[in-house]
Amino acid sequence: MKKKTLLAGFALLGALALTATGCASDSDATGDAGAGGDDDGVVTVGFAQTGSESGWRSANTESMKEAFSADNGFELIFNAADNDTAAQIAAVRDFINQGVDAIVIAPIVEDGWDDVLQEAADAGIPVVLEDRTVSASDDLYASWVGLDFEKEGVMAGEWAAETFGDTPTKMVVLEGTTGSAPANDRASGFDEAVKDTAIEKIDSQTGDFTRDGGKTVMEGFLQKYGVDGIDLVYAHNDDMALGAIEAIEAAGAEPGVDIQIVSIDAVKDGMQALVDGKINFIVECNPLLGDLAAGLVLDVLDGKEVEKEVYVEDQTFTQEQAAEVIDSRPY
Ligand code: AHR
Repeated sequence: MKKKTLLAGFALLGALALTATGCASDSDATGDAGAGGDDDGVVTVGFAQTGSESGWRSANTESMKEAFSADNGFELIFNAADNDTAAQIAAVRDFINQGVDAIVIAPIVEDGWDDVLQEAADAGIPVVLEDRTVSASDDLYASWVGLDFEKEGVMAGEWAAETFGDTPTKMVVLEGTTGSAPANDRASGFDEAVKDTAIEKIDSQTGDFTRDGGKTVMEGFLQKYGVDGIDLVYAHNDDMALGAIEAIEAAGAEPGVDIQIVSIDAVKDGMQALVDGKINFIVECNPLLGDLAAGLVLDVLDGKEVEKEVYVEDQTFTQEQAAEVIDSRPY
């Protein structure tokens, strides 16, 4: 049976600090080599990042690099796979061959991880997943830390259901990377939340979580259905919503008014578009997972029992709420 920990909102920052401090005071990060550290106490970690597809990803990479810093007792070997699954698996194999102390992966897609995770297990190298999940057995990794993507989709869908309810509504969807956990779960969560409404999904295509992808797909939707044939855009992330805004404006329409937009992430540019009325509602996806991931790595290397799943809680933002918090948000 899986264990589950939930960390909420900005209480997270305190929890993160405690996690990091606790680990640093009694294990490898102080320079006292633990189970996985070198003689000099440095813990070598290979991190296989998805790529650099979005503002969210940049914030996540920064958080990871800060947490796995030399000051904290780590040597970080960083790889960004440019959204190429084969390249990401090859990077993990390379970490195994280098004999790192631990591996952290933000898996691009859910499937295809069984073999390389087994190879890491055979080599005695613990794996911690961050952000996205995999379909492989959870015996093959030590822990996962991230967000509840299904719930994010439900929260976006609940807003749509409350906003449009019984009003016949034509919706298009800008999907994230095909086969990725957030694309799968945000789709199913949203669909479940709007199933008894008059919202009709007239089209759905991947924009690969990128701004350019969102723009190109939205241009295609606008050509096919016209501005008057689309009432609502559900974008699986802010970057694709921002691309859609460009396409809607280029078509001579007003995003947020002629076509409403709901998206997920709550990165700075997305929140600004919400404040400006171009996006109508945003569900947060917190990218600041670095300290939690580093704490898990140190605990695993110290032989401590860790939770199999560590969920970080998200919040939602209306235009008014976004205006209140935008200046104080760290990403
Ligand atoms: O896995 C998290 C998703 O990946 C974020 O929502 C998206 O912006 C990123 O690319």
